[in-house]
Amino acid sequence: MKKRPLACVILTAGVGKRMKSATPKVMHEIAGQPMIRWLLQSVEELSPEKIIVVTAPDAISVAQTVKPHLTVVQQKALGTADAVKAALPLIEGFTGDVLVLLGDMPLLSAAMMQSLIETRDQADTGIAVLGVEYKSPPAFGRLVLNPDKTLNRIVEDKDASAEERQIKLCNTGAFCIDGAKLAGWLAKIENTNAQNEFYITDLPAIAARDGSKTRVCLLGDAEEVLGVNSRADLAIVELAMQKRLRKRAMENGATLHDPDTVFFAWDTKIGRDVVIGPNVVFGPGVIIADGVTILAFCHIEGARIDTGCTIGPFARLRPGTHLWPKVKIGNFVEIKNANLHEGVKANHLAYIGDADIGAGTNFSCGAITVNYDGFDKHRTIIGENTMIGSNVSLVAPVTIGHGAFIAAGSTITRDVAPDALAVERADVKQIEGWASSYRKKKSVK
Ligand code: UD1
Ligand code: CA
Repeated sequence: MKKRPLACVILTAGVGKRMKSATPKVMHEIAGQPMIRWLLQSVEELSPEKIIVVTAPDAISVAQTVKPHLTVVQQKALGTADAVKAALPLIEGFTGDVLVLLGDMPLLSAAMMQSLIETRDQADTGIAVLGVEYKSPPAFGRLVLNPDKTLNRIVEDKDASAEERQIKLCNTGAFCIDGAKLAGWLAKIENTNAQNEFYITDLPAIAARDGSKTRVCLLGDAEEVLGVNSRADLAIVELAMQKRLRKRAMENGATLHDPDTVFFAWDTKIGRDVVIGPNVVFGPGVIIADGVTILAFCHIEGARIDTGCTIGPFARLRPGTHLWPKVKIGNFVEIKNANLHEGVKANHLAYIGDADIGAGTNFSCGAITVNYDGFDKHRTIIGENTMIGSNVSLVAPVTIGHGAFIAAGSTITRDVAPDALAVERADVKQIEGWASSYRKKKSVK
């Protein structure tokens, strides 16, 4: 069958009251990206001619996030049908399929959207509705079927009779509608209902009067339409997404010692034979090559980690970190905006910020780069095979030449020549016998 052109309208203009938030609901993040981006990713797989996001008047962040897709403002949240109406000027004359989706369902897959579109392929079918069956339905619209299993009408939970509430088959909120008919049908919707809203769910009954059938496409996995109405829902959807990301990491050849405690971002890239211990959190922008080991309790964001590195336990890698092959980062080490070349070691208690460290250098326990002077950030450049001793402060901007040794406890404020030893240390004064006489004094009362 010839594929009809497709346009998609996504509704996000509702009030989202239950989130108790100054942020538009669809901007709340799931695995590190706004939930609307998840839905858009799935929609984009279908390559529609147009994607139109209907937003509330003040939702500038939503318009920014969904670019390059179009946005249109629904001036007042008068209901889901009114929201679709707001998008009509952008699909004027469009006679293909109009896919209408609710913006708060980030888990809905492209495959399910495709089945919904295909459901409309049958003769005389003006609308396809994505339905889902629950043993005890939430406050969703109920699908009232005709004897031939086509849809008679949808009744909203708030408008349903006790008998209608017994129906298990519910409206997910996703529709595929004949674009040639949409505007005419929408014009007939009224708001005489419990919420005085214009319901998109009135469309099937109106289409029926026009001689057009509505068919139901049954959703296989109810998890796909988990919606976000509250912070509790947000946590449930986050967990569902994390389960998918964990599964994907393992399928791609990573070992997760305790998958339930590892948190990925939407874009985390992980190679093969990567081992990840318990309680590891990935923020956005992490790329991990093959054969990397990440021990327990690490937090990693915006970092590239090359093959054979070992990280943690208890390490923090911040944005702009690039670890070249076989770098070793130990416990309580923080790295930001820094290049650590092959084989560098920073095994304990160190801060490395705004730095370039040459291959083979050892950055000892308690050593730090002093990168911030209260106003500006400065860089520290360290050559290859140097030895940065324990408790060294490298006050940037500063350059340490190849092969230099920096003695423990030194505060380095000037450049150090290659192969030199730099020591900055006061002479040790010793008073012989002081300790024993002090103890004696303290014990005699
Ligand atoms: C809606 C459906 C219900 C379905 C349920 C599934 C209607 C009338 N009801 O109910 O049948 O079972 O979803 O979750 O459609 N929105 C706007 N403008 C508005 C109102 C809403 O853009 O004026 C957007 C919201 O931002 C949201 C979506 O539409 O993304 C759904 O709105 P919501 O109020 O949550 O509808 P439900 O009561 O959940
Ligand atoms: Ca909802």
